[in-house]
Amino acid sequence: MIKAVRGTRDLLPPDTALWNFVEAAVRDVFRAYNFQEIRTPIFESTELFSRSVGEETDIVSKEMYTWEDRGRAESDKGQALTLRPENTAGVVRAYIEHKLWERGLNKLYYIGPQFRRERPQKGRYRQFYQIGAEVIGSPSSGSQRPLRDAEVLDMLRTLLEHLGIKNWNLEINSLGDPEDRANFNEAIRTALGPVAAGMCVDCQRRAVTNPLRVFDCKVPADQPIIERLPRMVLSDDARTHFENVRAILDSIDLPYKVNHRLVRGLDYYTRTAFEFTDGALGAQNAILGGGRYDGLSEALGGPEAPGIGFAIGEDRLVLALQQERSAVSSAPDAYVAPVGEGMNREGLKLARELREKGLVVELGDRSSKLKKLLEIASKLGARYALIVGENEVEADTFALKNLETGEQVSVPRNELAQRIQTLKK
Ligand code: HAM
Repeated sequence: MIKAVRGTRDLLPPDTALWNFVEAAVRDVFRAYNFQEIRTPIFESTELFSRSVGEETDIVSKEMYTWEDRGRAESDKGQALTLRPENTAGVVRAYIEHKLWERGLNKLYYIGPQFRRERPQKGRYRQFYQIGAEVIGSPSSGSQRPLRDAEVLDMLRTLLEHLGIKNWNLEINSLGDPEDRANFNEAIRTALGPVAAGMCVDCQRRAVTNPLRVFDCKVPADQPIIERLPRMVLSDDARTHFENVRAILDSIDLPYKVNHRLVRGLDYYTRTAFEFTDGALGAQNAILGGGRYDGLSEALGGPEAPGIGFAIGEDRLVLALQQERSAVSSAPDAYVAPVGEGMNREGLKLARELREKGLVVELGDRSSKLKKLLEIASKLGARYALIVGENEVEADTFALKNLETGEQVSVPRNELAQRIQTLKK
């Protein structure tokens, strides 16, 4: 038997109803903050990710699905392509490629699959879904200001509350300006000098190439060394920015904790970085992460365009919702059961009328007995069955049967939709 590849999975009903519920809520909340949707390709040139996410990150060095293209045209041959491991790089590439600033498009969101070759476990997949948003803009649009950072975090709180997620915690940190980061890297390199040899092979490599990345290490034996490493020293501008972000968060009663060890696993971050965790989730508890990336556009050959954004792990958000709230119903409102010669067509007509009025309707087939049809209807979770027989069609009045209580009433055709709607509530 051929099965789905390790780390990938099928999303099936009724779970897909919860995914749709999440995505509809996201679209509503993002719209209220004036974000618009962007869809970028699922694969991009490998170089896009190595230049933005960073060669030395776990994502680029170990987790990307990369291949050499073998197109027919000479120009395609040998091009290194990669399934996107994240979407910020693609959005910034599109921002530059289409000069989106000329159209005033600087608040963009996306929903879609991402790919990382990680060790699969609950909440961690090789194909997973992200819901993300990015604010990118010229300095004159104020996109580099602390207010933007706070507004993005405020939008996330609104979204989580709207969805009914209660157990969230927000951690924030500042990763400083590029010079702060360079100084910090050197300070860590120096501190690691005498101890690196006793660490895991990855850390031994990181100590030389990109010391900051030792904070991504998950090896338990290395943690005591990592805990003793120095903290980042912020420039005056970066410190003021962070203080301002915190003051705004306090003024809107948005609770957070400062975590000086939060460095995030991607190299493009500057200044504010953040993560939301969810207490209900276990080991993979980071429900979303994000931060500022003020130099990313320039690093990809674009204009000065400071940015801030985040990505929510949709798989994890859905898991948290399944633990925190009752399931979203995906059952039909009514099941139309035709009985007798010629009644399939009458059933289809009636189903069509009800669907036009916004009801979810499943249509049975008269080749089965009524008893069998009612069993199917119950199995589907429908609350009502509508019996369509010759007498009913003639009287233009139908038997509406409550499948939970067995109670049955006669309802004129033109009152049916409203009756089912009211009874639904
Ligand atoms: P990230 O922290 O790498 O950031 O991923 C964001 C979220 O995606 C994580 O918090 C997690 O919920 C989810 N996630 C990551 N890997 C997996 C996986 N293997 N399985 C399930 N869920 C996963 C980014 O990707 C940045 N692009 C976020 C960003 C946008 N920063 C600025 N703008």
